[in-house]
Amino acid sequence: DLPPRVTIYEVGPRDGLQNESSSVPTPVKAEFVRRLVAAGLETVETTSFVSPRWVPQLADAAELLADLDEVGRGPLRPVLVPNERGLDRALEAGVGAVAIFGSATETFAQKNLGRSRAESVQMFAPVVRRAQEAGLWVRAYVSMCFGDPWEGPVPVDQVADACAELMDLGCDQLSVGDTIGTGTTGHVEALLAALDRRGVGVDRIGVHFHDTYGQALANTLTALRAGVTVVDASTGGLGGCPYAKSATGNLATEDLVWMLDGAGVESGVDLDALVETSAWMAQQLGKASPSRVVKALSGG
Ligand code: HMG
Ligand code: MG
Repeated sequence: DLPPRVTIYEVGPRDGLQNESSSVPTPVKAEFVRRLVAAGLETVETTSFVSPRWVPQLADAAELLADLDEVGRGPLRPVLVPNERGLDRALEAGVGAVAIFGSATETFAQKNLGRSRAESVQMFAPVVRRAQEAGLWVRAYVSMCFGDPWEGPVPVDQVADACAELMDLGCDQLSVGDTIGTGTTGHVEALLAALDRRGVGVDRIGVHFHDTYGQALANTLTALRAGVTVVDASTGGLGGCPYAKSATGNLATEDLVWMLDGAGVESGVDLDALVETSAWMAQQLGKASPSRVVKALSGG
């Protein structure tokens, strides 16, 4: 019914910190990544090589990776890369994995990438090709796979087409993003079925849920039952997207680990170490974690 083991794809340092209004010092970011790795998270997305004008919070990507040294390298430490400029910077920093990030809707492609969906695919194509030539692992995110704050609900076939288009470039994994958290369980099933019809099977899919409407865990469980084994989560529930109106926190890694532990699904993560990390991060940011599990276990 449930897979024996799930890979948690941790996005806190990138998806979480890209959205913080206060800028977090580079050594604090490096310490965050080190703590996450020490807590047993295998895959940790560290930062983005995007335009510093667009996301000033992650303008220190190169310094962060230099600070992290070997901990920040390799195929299990992806970074976001939108264009060839970003890829050049990432290669120079010695990364082993990159993620491109497209949109299921036209409006969000314009807001997040400053170009249409078709133009963004053109931007990504040489990035994927060159990344593969360099031996990197490549992930494709697609945002607004359930609802879009400007366009409303997004038809599953439109989403499946947008996803397949990026996977057809040769990406290794797809992350299906419910950027604004409006998705529900039936919608998850319908989208996974549409993706399967377009040739993208659950073995290549990760799910990326936001907890805006409290549906993230239910949606995750539905995806796991359908055969998905990669789940994106953000420690402490940090995050959102600066270019998506109403996007609040990602599924909190602690909430996910609590559920998986209870169900006997292996993730390799030490929940206590993670909660401690969130408490520490909350102190750095000067605000409490929205995660229920963090609140319950850290007594605050
Ligand atoms: P552009 O077309 O180059 O636009 O950017 P521009 O003309 O506004 O460029 C801005 C400046 O950035 C220029 O510098 C470029 O050279 C420079 P200037 O000449 O003005 O001094 N530049 C760069 N600098 C460093 N690294 C680069 C780079 N590229 C350009 N890679 C671009 C287009 C795509 C770069 C821009 O729109 C951008 O950076 N967008 C990224 C926005 C972003 O990071 N959003 C958040 C991530 S997506 C997300 O969170 C969703 C996700 O979590 C899943 C989900 O929840 O759904 C993945
Ligand atoms: Mg997200």
